[in-house]
Amino acid sequence: MRIDVISLFPEFIAQCAAFGVVGRAGERGLLSMQGWNPRDYAEGNYRRVDDRPFGGGPGMVMLIDPLRACLRAAREADPAPARVVYLSPQGAPLTQAKVRELAGRERLILLCGRYEGIDERLIQAEVDEELSIGDYVLSGGELAAAVVVDAVARLREGVLGDAESAVQDSFEDGLLDCPHYTRPVEHELGAVPPVLMSGNHAEIARWRRKQALGRTWLRRPDLIDEAALSKADRKLLDAFRAELNGVGDAAPAQDVAKNA
Ligand SMILES: C[S@@+](CC[C@H](N)C(=O)[O-])C[C@H]1O[C@@H](n2cnc3c(N)ncnc32)[C@H](O)[C@@H]1O
Repeated sequence: MRIDVISLFPEFIAQCAAFGVVGRAGERGLLSMQGWNPRDYAEGNYRRVDDRPFGGGPGMVMLIDPLRACLRAAREADPAPARVVYLSPQGAPLTQAKVRELAGRERLILLCGRYEGIDERLIQAEVDEELSIGDYVLSGGELAAAVVVDAVARLREGVLGDAESAVQDSFEDGLLDCPHYTRPVEHELGAVPPVLMSGNHAEIARWRRKQALGRTWLRRPDLIDEAALSKADRKLLDAFRAELNGVGDAAPAQDVAKNA
């Protein structure tokens, strides 16, 4: 997969993508990234990339022409058609489903704004979709682009090893992931749930599913409302709730407190 990033600070994203899973994907040729700086396509001695907004008001707006020339150069760097994504607080929320869709493409161009944003005409003419990483405003699109690169790259085939498999991650099946434990079995902070050491794979799977359902119900009831739960899931969730109200160790204390 190829991802081109258009930004006034392209080195920033290159740095973010140099570590861990994404860094390894690059080293193994599963992901190729290139940064493009609109300033390199700006005219004049000052290589100006922004100007004051028409209508007045604070801040600056990114100029059409340097961005357009930069985008053209990025498109022409590879014959594969690219989907152009503008990172913007006004975009559709980035979800795991959207990440999976993007990961299915061979080429993306991520466009990062700065200042008050980009001249609307360039967005209308060149951008295929706008994505937001949350309902807050960043000073630039670079962090958002780095989020997209990381989330997308780890879903490309061969990037994650078995041990890091994304299949059970939160949101993959509409639920949050179950809690995880490792050694030691006994610790002053508590013991590992015995079922995880039972060797009974069916029971372990059932316990994990119940925890995932319960945890999602406690922390993200909106996801439970949207999930298509089977009859068996509903029974597990009922069992989780019953344990929570009665005897059980169904949920970590902070979740119980949150839901109280
Ligand atoms: C200061 S922001 C501009 C905000 C814009 N005036 C608005 O209120 O919609 C500068 C740039 O940061 C990026 N950005 C800010 N918040 C973002 C978010 N939540 N998700 C994705 N990109 C964001 C966009 O690329 C944007 O052009």
